[in-house]
Amino acid sequence: MNIDGKAWRTIWLEPDGGSGLSAVGVIDQTLLPHQFTTRILRSCDQAAEAISTMVVRGAPLIGVTGAYGLMLALQVDPSDAALAAAFEQLNATRPTAVNLRWALERVRAKVQPLPPLERAAAAQAEAALIAEEDVAMGEAIGEHGLAIFQQLAAARPAERQAEPFNVLTHCNAGWLATVDWGTALAPIYKAHRAGMKIHVWVDETRPRNQGASLTAYELGREGVPHTVIVDNAGGHLMQHGQVDAVIVGSDRTTRTGDVCNKIGTYLKALAAHDNGVPFYVALPASTIDWTIADGVAEIPIEARSAAEVTHIQGLLADAPPGSKPVSVQVTPNASAAFNPAFDVTPARLVTGLITERGVAPATPEGLRQLYGPVD
Ligand code: MRU
Repeated sequence: MNIDGKAWRTIWLEPDGGSGLSAVGVIDQTLLPHQFTTRILRSCDQAAEAISTMVVRGAPLIGVTGAYGLMLALQVDPSDAALAAAFEQLNATRPTAVNLRWALERVRAKVQPLPPLERAAAAQAEAALIAEEDVAMGEAIGEHGLAIFQQLAAARPAERQAEPFNVLTHCNAGWLATVDWGTALAPIYKAHRAGMKIHVWVDETRPRNQGASLTAYELGREGVPHTVIVDNAGGHLMQHGQVDAVIVGSDRTTRTGDVCNKIGTYLKALAAHDNGVPFYVALPASTIDWTIADGVAEIPIEARSAAEVTHIQGLLADAPPGSKPVSVQVTPNASAAFNPAFDVTPARLVTGLITERGVAPATPEGLRQLYGPVD
């Protein structure tokens, strides 16, 4: 995607500079939208830290960063013990998005049978392949989602045909959450590039304001008309016919079609259901956890620091250009805070799953139809 006319991905291999050791470049998402900064990850520890502090975030990108993290570990020690330790370290960084475990398992399965000296190169090749596949999946999701948007837009009453198609999205499931394109935002980019008149309601998503900071940043860079709203405004807009469709991403999807995504997604789905607004979830296959059936009971929900609730990050009103964001406290000193980072939307509230293989109902049969029998 484009930043000031230059095409970027969220993660890339850095030239080794003659050292023989590869490094990994990433965009530091903790400083966006106020500062665009990149970082170089040179060790497994740095990759793990980048994931847990959300320098990189979003389920697919976490997976790719984990895969490269294994490569970084194997470059310095390709033994079985080091592989196992790096796997555990990276896998423990964030518990909810299943893409992390999926990508780590994929790299481990590739390198484990190999002689130690061949492992780092094999890990690099597999991580790069996962990254390429992620880009292709995002683009395919975009095409399938665009077809849905076009159908929904065409089905609106004649007097509304001239209005923009209003989509509401929650959190950031755009290219910053993946390697490129995104999941929920991919159909929006496709629609915009195809000349469809589209407008996006961008949810803030406290605690980290990822809608306001990341989704708004992405859409702005691509020139997509959008309006930032507070999390609590979505239901009101739906009641007043101002939302034609909701589209969100997923951190883990059960084989039955339950969807786990950023906290507050469930409330959006309830409001959409109550108002007859279609609620779509966009996800690549890497987000499906075929081992579980009941999302509410079985998906581990990450509890992040209470400081993300008690404090809020942003630029001071009169800050000169180039200033770093600051953190300000919004709660009384003595108040406790709790910060579950994700919630589960039951399949019954999901209108459809938009995947790289097409669109399916959020049911076991729907997913099996797309992906075939899975053991
Ligand atoms: O906590 P985050 O920023 O990693 O959570 C991001 C989300 O919840 C996204 O919606 C999800 O990862 C899908 S991303 C394509």
